[in-house]
Amino acid sequence: MKNILVTGGAGFIGSNYVRYVLENFPDFELVNLDALTYAGNLENLSDIEANPQYHFVRGDIRDAELLRQLFDKYHFDAVVNFAAESHVDRSITDPSLFFEVNVGGVLTLLEACLKAWRLRPEDKYCHDFQPGVRYLQVSTDEVYGSLTPDEPAFTEQNPLAPNSPYAASKASADLLCRAYAHTYGLPLNITRCSNNYGPYQFPEKLIPLMLNNAQHDRKLPVYGDGQQIRDWLYVFDHNRAIHQVLTQAEPGQVYNIGGSNERANLQIVELLLKSIGKPDSLIEHVKDRPGHDRRYAIDSSKIRRELGWAPAYQFEQALPATITWYQEHATWVEHAVSGEYQNYYDKMYGAAER
Ligand code: NAD
Ligand code: DAU
Repeated sequence: MKNILVTGGAGFIGSNYVRYVLENFPDFELVNLDALTYAGNLENLSDIEANPQYHFVRGDIRDAELLRQLFDKYHFDAVVNFAAESHVDRSITDPSLFFEVNVGGVLTLLEACLKAWRLRPEDKYCHDFQPGVRYLQVSTDEVYGSLTPDEPAFTEQNPLAPNSPYAASKASADLLCRAYAHTYGLPLNITRCSNNYGPYQFPEKLIPLMLNNAQHDRKLPVYGDGQQIRDWLYVFDHNRAIHQVLTQAEPGQVYNIGGSNERANLQIVELLLKSIGKPDSLIEHVKDRPGHDRRYAIDSSKIRRELGWAPAYQFEQALPATITWYQEHATWVEHAVSGEYQNYYDKMYGAAER
């Protein structure tokens, strides 16, 4: 039995990861530590709440004492850190929060791992760790900055050149991880994935936001000319890659993850409208995002070559399936946008727990 601390497991990618592991790996036990910010939603996991191999703890990755107690209680073999402030637009209005959570939180987690896993905890420079332990930092392709239309896709060798406060906070966390691996020998990996789509994505992100607006015949706010390019990957494929890295990779390795599936934003928005039978006249070009990255593209040949990972889902099938999921989960969307899931939490665990 492997015990994993999953942080941020009530968010979009984390909740899909929790479900993927519980459904496919009966020898894993998971503790999901999540602060339940506006982006964390226990409704994402209501079907697995009763699973005896799953435990939910409401808490903050910056809380060192809570982490110590959890390590003492569960003796984790691994930590997979999804917890973060994840929305670029919010980072432009409130950068401090992004550095507090995405950098301060990672520092606290790394310290907790060192304390729990070092064989001689009293020796600050001890490089001997319990066998098999691993920290995995879920990072992003945004740490590499932006590409021109003709530049080759990002490889793991590209320099870090983040452009938004969000991307800078994630790049800072990657550098912290690098330093902890180098200085203290902490066994860890970093994954850098491109844009995800799929069920349970908070409707502030492009695809669920546009779908929700279109369903209600509201305008679809396309930033600038809409020709910015993102490399889209189905969330299930991202999580398969993360789990392969966690269980198969050599410590210290960094892996890019992507679907080689580049699309312009406007193309995506038009596709969504066509799929649900709404007119292009709903599209409205609005003021561009400040510092907007023009293009991301991921070269994932390293993970394909070394770990044998490849995407299992094609955009042509997985996007329509995603659209259907949002149509069939209109109540989930409504709750997410209204903050209703905070009430769900109070019902499940009591307001006093907050
Ligand atoms: P999300 O915003 O949907 O979820 C983030 C989760 O973290 C939420 O459940 C939230 O409650 C929790 N959280 C936030 N602050 C916390 C704190 N201080 N302590 C504990 N929990 C906290 O994000 P997502 O889209 O699922 O992204 C997950 C991770 O993957 C992030 O680290 C993000 O940078 C990375 N990533 C995302 C994408 C993408 O396309 N969405 C792509 C590549 C990498
Ligand atoms: O590349 C990985 C990153 O993808 C992750 O690290 C981030 O956590 C995740 O939020 C995502 O960042 P983006 O900024 O690419 O995603 P977002 O869905 O916010 O926007 C996608 C593109 O669509 C981007 O070019 C901005 C544009 N956009 C977005 C919104 C919300 C619009 O044109 N209008 C909008 O209303």
